Amino acid sequence: MNILVTGGAGFIGSHTVVELENAGFRPIILDDFSNSEKSVLDGLKNILGHDVECIEGNCNDTEVLRSVFASHKIDGVIHFAAAKAVGESVENPLKYYDLNVGSLIKLIRTMEEFGVKKMVFSSSCTVYGEPDEIPVTESTPRKPANSPYGNTKTICEDILRDTVLSGRNAQFVALRYFNPIGAHETAEIGELPSGVPSNLVPYITQTAAGLRNELTIFGDDYDTIDGTNIRDFIHVVDLAKAHVLALKFLEEKEEAYYDVFNIGTGKGNSVKELVDTFEEVNGVKLNYKIGPRRPGDTIKIYGDVNKSQDILGWKAEKTLAEALKDAWRWQQKLAERK
Ligand code: UFG
Repeated sequence: MNILVTGGAGFIGSHTVVELENAGFRPIILDDFSNSEKSVLDGLKNILGHDVECIEGNCNDTEVLRSVFASHKIDGVIHFAAAKAVGESVENPLKYYDLNVGSLIKLIRTMEEFGVKKMVFSSSCTVYGEPDEIPVTESTPRKPANSPYGNTKTICEDILRDTVLSGRNAQFVALRYFNPIGAHETAEIGELPSGVPSNLVPYITQTAAGLRNELTIFGDDYDTIDGTNIRDFIHVVDLAKAHVLALKFLEEKEEAYYDVFNIGTGKGNSVKELVDTFEEVNGVKLNYKIGPRRPGDTIKIYGDVNKSQDILGWKAEKTLAEALKDAWRWQQKLAERK
């Protein structure tokens, strides 16, 4: 099966390309490299032993999409391509609505035109906002998003649901990711944030590598075990494998279908626990300080993942320690390259 992977050169996309190949699918990347680097393709080649087909183009452009679908027999789509910086989305909401919502609409229309029915969509636990109870299950009510970025994920889920409800024969799933971290164990691919990282783990690895002076932990006065935020940190390779199982699940479906699945570990760790684990497993001392809370941060969230296990047959296998070792190995590999 040929699978179009939009945003396939990105962090989660590139790891998913590897797992698709491992499972016998043929991934075709569509990426405009607006937030990724072409060197990712070399990393993929080193892992897989051959080139992965990659089309350079913007998936928010119907003509680009049409030409991809016209020149390839596409059997299914994994739609990663999106902008994802929470802060930027507050400053430039139209960019986010245009790109994230616009590309999904164009993609669904083009899929319809070419008779392609199956899609796995990248959603986020951001749709739960600050939940009243944890762990969150898929039936935990969604809350109003606290950023335009988060709102695009909620809107995109609704677009997928309503398209299926309209009676169209399509099979869609939205995977609600918790916090992806880590890198491929070969250190050939990993996270490549442009500029100053806003996510925790790349900031940690860059600080440990001496590229940043110190990490600031955003608040230690929350009502949690040690006062820092709680997240469900999931190894990106486990997350990638969930896409393969979701596609296999959709392969069996013939009727119109839409559903959402939590993709996390089912376990919460505090920011401080993550920092301590990083130091311990990698034998490095991290320079950090406690700073003020970051506006808009969810206090604590982690996911119940029984539904993914029962229906998709998926479960996270890697530990936090493995993820943090892989992230650090990747950062060291990046340093060697320079
Ligand atoms: N953190 C720090 N210092 C930093 C960076 C982060 O203390 O320098 C803390 C944050 O306050 C938070 C935790 O580390 O408590 C995780 O922060 P990230 O920015 O790595 O991740 P978030 O949970 O804020 O955001 C992630 C994704 C978003 C998505 C959101 C909800 O990065 O794209 O989950 O789904 F919107």
